[in-house]
Amino acid sequence: MYFKQFLNELVGCASYLVASRQTGEAAIVDPGVDLSQYDALLRDRHFTLRYVIDTHIHADHVSGARALAAEHGAELCLFEGARVSYPFRPLYDGEELSLGQLRLRIVHTPGHRPELISILIINPERSPEPSMVLTGDSLLVGDVGRPDFGGGDAQQQYDSVGRLLRLPDWVAVFPGHFEGPCGKHMCGRPSTTVGFERLFNPIARMDREPFVDKLAGEVPARPLNMIAIEATNRGAVDATWAMLTQMSEVPQLSLDEFDAVAEGSFLVDVREPVEFASGHLPGSVNIPQAELATRVDELPRDRSLVTVCLSGARSFRSAQFLAQAGFSQVSSLEPGISGWLVAGRAVDADEVQPDGPGVVETEWAHAGAG
Ligand SMILES: [Fe+2]
Repeated sequence: MYFKQFLNELVGCASYLVASRQTGEAAIVDPGVDLSQYDALLRDRHFTLRYVIDTHIHADHVSGARALAAEHGAELCLFEGARVSYPFRPLYDGEELSLGQLRLRIVHTPGHRPELISILIINPERSPEPSMVLTGDSLLVGDVGRPDFGGGDAQQQYDSVGRLLRLPDWVAVFPGHFEGPCGKHMCGRPSTTVGFERLFNPIARMDREPFVDKLAGEVPARPLNMIAIEATNRGAVDATWAMLTQMSEVPQLSLDEFDAVAEGSFLVDVREPVEFASGHLPGSVNIPQAELATRVDELPRDRSLVTVCLSGARSFRSAQFLAQAGFSQVSSLEPGISGWLVAGRAVDADEVQPDGPGVVETEWAHAGAG
């Protein structure tokens, strides 16, 4: 067999190529929009792409599945319950796809999304037991996928993660994410084993009630451009441009540098509404990062823009996206609201704050915490 993991550093996602070296048949799981990396490998290895599988409808990155399947004449596969506007081959719980001698067994593991599947990889020539599992956003390394993306369910996530943790110890786990906004506690490793997570995953090993409480009470901010990206992946719109595809150089302003440009700048607070209501820069406008692409027309193109969040990571990525989208004068307030408050500066706050769980920050190794 042949197996390769692709890591997308911009969004913290992983995609996979599995193939039979005997027959040259290949499957690609959760491809991103940059198809060149898959095309090159398929060509170099003389593989024939038979299946392109999305483990679920993604909300944090634009899927390359449709384009890749069309380009190679492969079958585009999703779980049978996936609500999308384009044709696909429906996959069923327990079904097995063949790749030469290999078997890809579908396991329905809803919770992060209702249509989410995991994929067991079995190489019968070595063992009748699975040796690997691709888990999408169900079981992550040190974490589990968040259940608040359109139809997710923490109770189902508990059951799905439990189902995966009953696999044998030795099964290698390859998740859909290694960092990013889909979980707060991912440790950064790109793979793990069932046995290690059963013993040491701080959330997956919880009992049902604390597990559900933990997921309900700890909600990371929604991903950058989530609204546009999810709609694109359902086939409702084509906003592929909403995907962050480059690490643009944008200024990260200190408080003093901010003071020098604040007058005349348009201040965009990209935090969630509940965070904005609890305290924001005077004169700033709230456009959560999840809605940035959808509401980009609300931003002036003839003024400088300064993006703001709690401590500089979301605002930096938002500023990078706006630069990619053609805004020429965009910068990010590096210390964020937390640094602003530490400096003893005043914020405006709404008297009545919206209900809802608090928002927790997500670790991004390349952009600093927060
Ligand atoms: Fe996801």
